[in-house]
Amino acid sequence: MDANKLRERFLDFFRQYGHATIGYAPLIPENDPSVLFTTAGMHPLVPFLLGEAHPAGRRLANYQKCLRTNDIAEVGDMTHLTFFEMLGNWSLGDYWKEEAIHLNYILLTEIFGHDPDRLHITCFAGDKDAPRDSEAAAIWLSLGIPPGRITFQPKTENWWGPAGMTGPCGPDSEVFFDMQPTGPSDETPVTQPQRFVEICNNVFMAYEKLSDGRFVPLAQRNVDVGIGLERNLMLLQGSDSVFETDLFLPLMTAISRLARQPQPLAMRVIADHIRAAVFVMAEGVRPGNTDQPYIARRLVRRAIRYGRMIGIEGSFLAPLAGIVVTCMGTAFPEIVPPSGAIYAALDDEEGRFQHTLVRGEREFARAAAQSHAQQELVLPGQTAFHLYDTYGFPLELTQELAREQGLAVDVASFQSAFAAHQAQSRQGAAGRFKGGLAERNLQTTRLHTATHLLQAALRRVLGPHVTQRGSSITSERLRFDFNHSERLSSQQLTAVEELVNTQIGRDLPVSWGEMRLDAARQGGALGLFEERYGETVKVYAIGDFSLEICGGPHVSHTGELGHFHILKEEGVAAGMRRIKAILAG
Ligand code: SER
Repeated sequence: MDANKLRERFLDFFRQYGHATIGYAPLIPENDPSVLFTTAGMHPLVPFLLGEAHPAGRRLANYQKCLRTNDIAEVGDMTHLTFFEMLGNWSLGDYWKEEAIHLNYILLTEIFGHDPDRLHITCFAGDKDAPRDSEAAAIWLSLGIPPGRITFQPKTENWWGPAGMTGPCGPDSEVFFDMQPTGPSDETPVTQPQRFVEICNNVFMAYEKLSDGRFVPLAQRNVDVGIGLERNLMLLQGSDSVFETDLFLPLMTAISRLARQPQPLAMRVIADHIRAAVFVMAEGVRPGNTDQPYIARRLVRRAIRYGRMIGIEGSFLAPLAGIVVTCMGTAFPEIVPPSGAIYAALDDEEGRFQHTLVRGEREFARAAAQSHAQQELVLPGQTAFHLYDTYGFPLELTQELAREQGLAVDVASFQSAFAAHQAQSRQGAAGRFKGGLAERNLQTTRLHTATHLLQAALRRVLGPHVTQRGSSITSERLRFDFNHSERLSSQQLTAVEELVNTQIGRDLPVSWGEMRLDAARQGGALGLFEERYGETVKVYAIGDFSLEICGGPHVSHTGELGHFHILKEEGVAAGMRRIKAILAG
């Protein structure tokens, strides 16, 4: 079974059981400044897990492109990837554990054909927040999984979410596949993790974690099932690793032809990173120094370094990206149109880094030798910063080089050197090296609603030519870019501010509806990025004041916003202005 067939069989199976197939969300979340990338299929569904009605119903399934950088050091083993696909099925307050586990079992054993005797299960052991999940275990037992292959584990292992600091979460039940079925029968995924591969996670999302750390029951009990596509494909195709499946073989073959000393680990790293980079860049990101661009740069530069290590000469990323587009373009057609621009940008980044890589490596070798000579186990942060600043070495690349030499990098002093150097852009970069999930909190939701009010107010004060060109929200402030040719006068700024505050004072209801894109346009809804919308879109109305196509989330009444205050208005490019504003109190 190839990857296309696997996705198809999965969706067909769940359609048979009443699940609507929904499209996948972009890799770069829209309207959610708290995360850099979509990391799981449930991520775009958070509002619906919290109780909002999903237009497609209560039973959903899809495949979702995901990116996680926390596993980057593991890439190259049998199963780990940065970019991967997650097959997902959901019950939004519909079926519960009994049906979820039954469906999961039939899918794994009959549709995918995994040998039931090689499945091991883990369940939540229970603690002060939620009881032991004997219910899930009993269902697995009833399906024929013997007690010796069911293990209970604490929250650190068998609890999923929330994706940020707060939100939907719950106990989970993970399914593992035994890679050495003739091994000792008393080994489990807990005692012998390297023997087992996690192939699936059933999350029983019946809780919400609040900002004070408490777990409270959700109004509806949801099921969130995530299934790693590449791992299951590996097992179905009898491959030694995800890199020997049809998703990767053409890429691996091309890399081995280019390499003078083909070496499996390096080839796998290159294959993973170029694939991830293509997907990130297909959404408009270009390698750079902060946020998503920084991740793109790390992936590309790490791939270049591994390429040099195995003796690849000249530029090689663009041709490999072409293979990614061929392999993945059927399932993800959005990567095809921008492919030419991606190849050009990869060439560009490669050209830039090629010049400095060798010199930087030499510089690193000198510094490492010095540390060793002084019997130091830590490379100074200043050195790491110099490599970053002068030779374009992402911190993580220097850390990796250091690790290979038995050295650590003084990250704290790297960061202070970095912060001192770039005080003006600190907020974008220094704080976000980890690229992980931050809080998706009430304040960002408020600022998001305020952004809609701001756009509507600007159009009333300046004219209907004003439309959004960019928007970014942190928990402190909103930033809104729009087209307008002149600086705003202080009267205009005051008028905009007052207009927004008047709408807040009116405590207007915020409501939304689902409609066809053309109907939404005819009704005057504002919207961006049309090519990203599906046929039906969600439209948010704020009283009679604003109508916008948007995924949400928003507050329910404008009275929740507090006082709107514009901090700054400035030009960012010809014909484009930027406003930064906050909500006080
Ligand atoms: N959210 C869960 C996971 O990412 C299951 O979909 O594993």
